[in-house]
Amino acid sequence: MADNATETTLSTFLGQQTIKMLIGGEWVEAASGRTFDTINPSTGQVLAKVAEGDAADIDRAVAAARGAFEHGPWTRLTPSQRGRLLWKIADLIEQHAEELAKLETLDNGKPIKYSRAVDVPLTADHFRYFAGWATKLEGETIPVSIPNMFTYTLREPVGVVGQIIPWNFPLQMAAWKLAPALACGNTVILKPAEQTPLTALRLGELICEAGFPEGVVNIIPGFGETAGAALAAHPGVDKIAFTGSTEVGKRIVRASADNLKKLTLELGGKSPNIIFPDADLKFAVRGAMNAIFFNQGQVCTAGSRLFVHASMYDQVLGGLTDLARKMSLGLGIDPATDIGPLISQEQLERVMNYIDIGKREGASPTTGGERANGDLAQGYFVRPTVFDHVADEMTIAREEIFGPVVVVMPFEEVEEVAARANQSIYGLAAAVWTNDVKKVHKMVAALKAGVVWVNTYNQFDAAAPFGGYKQSGYGREMGHAALDTYTQTKTAWINLR
Ligand code: NAI
Ligand code: MG
Repeated sequence: MADNATETTLSTFLGQQTIKMLIGGEWVEAASGRTFDTINPSTGQVLAKVAEGDAADIDRAVAAARGAFEHGPWTRLTPSQRGRLLWKIADLIEQHAEELAKLETLDNGKPIKYSRAVDVPLTADHFRYFAGWATKLEGETIPVSIPNMFTYTLREPVGVVGQIIPWNFPLQMAAWKLAPALACGNTVILKPAEQTPLTALRLGELICEAGFPEGVVNIIPGFGETAGAALAAHPGVDKIAFTGSTEVGKRIVRASADNLKKLTLELGGKSPNIIFPDADLKFAVRGAMNAIFFNQGQVCTAGSRLFVHASMYDQVLGGLTDLARKMSLGLGIDPATDIGPLISQEQLERVMNYIDIGKREGASPTTGGERANGDLAQGYFVRPTVFDHVADEMTIAREEIFGPVVVVMPFEEVEEVAARANQSIYGLAAAVWTNDVKKVHKMVAALKAGVVWVNTYNQFDAAAPFGGYKQSGYGREMGHAALDTYTQTKTAWINLR
């Protein structure tokens, strides 16, 4: 789209008196009539008023999704037609790429260069990847040992799926949830995070424009304790897919018990990033910077525990400290910004509290450790922070901080660092920097994590499965692994005698 067309659509969207929710193909107010403000974290200013969904709206959305799943035109579409609809979403995302990138940056605060280069293109890519799967959900014929029986399997959708997503990658999280669910023929109620409802709602408009039948995708903005909890507990929902805190993940497990909902959970992490002495040093230090500071450290896979071989500890610490100091803090919308604000006042306080605890427990920052003031004092900015003098037992070395804060610790031996890296309730991701092929494979095998990166960090692709070990979650997203969590297998026995 041309520049001024982008600005016009953006201001029309943001200029609505209330940004409404999507239920059964209609854009509607909350049943309660209530709204909430969504805030630009770069400035602390209100961006828009959004309909505030709660249990009553979740009821309406579940009814719409159930109707669409049982009797709607959705049930009669061919796999090819389903795939084409998903492909069409990707086309529309690309046509509105600049508008979506700006909206994402305004609502979330993330640097616009990343919204443009990462969030929007990967979102489109995700829909394309799963568009291709719609026509490939094959069952099997089973050579059973009972005479005259012809036995085969069908892969059928799970049904009505509730999807609850966080604020750190609003568009991408919506795509990770919606694309596989729809490819497999489910219907959906998506609840975006209360901090960042805007791009999911704009995506909802594009989904309507793509021609999805009514009730297939319903989007209910609102708070976790009300809308989220109502969705998680709803007896009419067959499955919940959740990304967020481990604490809320556990609540979702409890809420699933009454009707035994299927679950996929993508939860927290405290990922180890390990630099061996034979690594390419400059490359590894830069990698360590991106591992922790990308998206202001608000990444479930953030490389927040940096283990460095003792022989090069000072060099790495010094190099990382220099790079952190040089990062440019600024408004999300400024193309020169490397680090934007955290998502909210609450997150700012949480991260600053961890920094204070770190200092009290005896760790010391080599850089950062404070908010940004001056022009940026109105936003929720924290300077990139590197902690030295850290011990494994310290709070900042064990708990997920979800901010631009890394702890750096020396190690001596391979076995020692593998054991220390695994000493965590989490197991989402890990990384190793080395040029020794034996160490690579030993470490890949030893690390208890759903993803291990070698000489790289934070790589994601729609084709590559992603999810956690231990308390980092259940199930996998992306790749064909995701299809298993959005389908169920039916076995048919035909007596041929
Ligand atoms: P959260 O887990 O409370 O929020 C994530 C989503 O869950 C949001 O949509 C929220 O509305 C919803 N939610 C909250 N309470 C719920 C409930 N009782 N029932 C159903 N849904 C509910 O995360 P929050 O409070 O925004 O951030 C707290 C911490 O969680 C962060 O500091 C970080 O450590 C972690 N987190 C991890 C994420 C990840 O990608 N794994 C993403 C966001 C947060
Ligand atoms: Mg919360």
